[in-house]
Amino acid sequence: MTKASDVFTLKNGNNVEVTFIGRGGQVTGINVPDAKGNIADVVIGYETVDAALAGDGYFGALCGRFANRIVDGKFELDGTKYQLDINNGPNHLHGGNEGFNSRTWDVEPYADAKYAQAYKLSLVSPDGDQNYPGELTISVIYGLTEENEFVIDYTAETTKATIINLTSHAYFNLKGAGTGTVENHELELNASKYTPISAELGTVTGEIADVKGTAMDFIDTKKIGEACNSDDAQVKLVDGIDHNFVISGFDGNLRIAARLTDPESGREMEVYTDQPGVQIYTGSHFDSSETGKLGAPIEKWAGVALETQIFPDSPNKENFPNAVLQPGETYKHTCVYKFI
Ligand code: BGC
Repeated sequence: MTKASDVFTLKNGNNVEVTFIGRGGQVTGINVPDAKGNIADVVIGYETVDAALAGDGYFGALCGRFANRIVDGKFELDGTKYQLDINNGPNHLHGGNEGFNSRTWDVEPYADAKYAQAYKLSLVSPDGDQNYPGELTISVIYGLTEENEFVIDYTAETTKATIINLTSHAYFNLKGAGTGTVENHELELNASKYTPISAELGTVTGEIADVKGTAMDFIDTKKIGEACNSDDAQVKLVDGIDHNFVISGFDGNLRIAARLTDPESGREMEVYTDQPGVQIYTGSHFDSSETGKLGAPIEKWAGVALETQIFPDSPNKENFPNAVLQPGETYKHTCVYKFI
């Protein structure tokens, strides 16, 4: 049986190293060399496992059953109304108070020739968990390739019709966690549209809007700080970016979602997914009250999360992608963080 504090490491031949713990499958570190071989830990977090267990439970964690927000925690499926656990103002966020990030996953080594090293993380979520219908059985492969790809491969099956949206919540800072904010990072998104939010705690309005001419336009690479420091009304609502972007050309196959570069270190990361959306979150709620890696305060905009996903509140928005999983079907989701 895996313990919450158990530590697992994936390594490849290029000195890339991914570390995670049993609780939430939380990725607590990703060491990546720059072109000169200087290694930095590129995910924000804490210096010890004890601090990770006591700290922000979403850092690097697997989120579900439904990552992101469901307005008022309500949805209807096959004529039955469900009221999910409320844990974010009036809303349901990342699966509720006892979301998958708070569970200890069962971890075992996983053999697959395409990975330098891999682990399989398993969890069974009982029928009625956080008021979701159906027993859900989830497997997540964490694999590291010799091409410096950290692959997260999700599958899940249910005993009753339910809704599902799993994601991973690491916040990246390619200069290195604890070295300042990501304002100077350059971001390029394969998204000409995004889902605007209302003033009500970041919930989507249901609109699918063009990014063109707005702060959300990352079609051509742009500094994150340029958007975060702009007067754009959507930015002002959340003091940064906390928005779902619609991946252009989505067809269920793996395609590029994002490219993030730190011009100072030269480290670069590409994100690939087969999901329709990616939530970009610049960590606006960090307030320097916690001490993170390198003994530095975890400050506002200290990292950026790129959470591949189905759109927020999809179960209540007819024009958003389907998030329903039926018995006999398999939920599949692949996310690749590739370090260059
Ligand atoms: C959401 C933020 C939320 C954060 C919690 C992100 O995925 O988009 O609004 O505050 O998770 O860690």
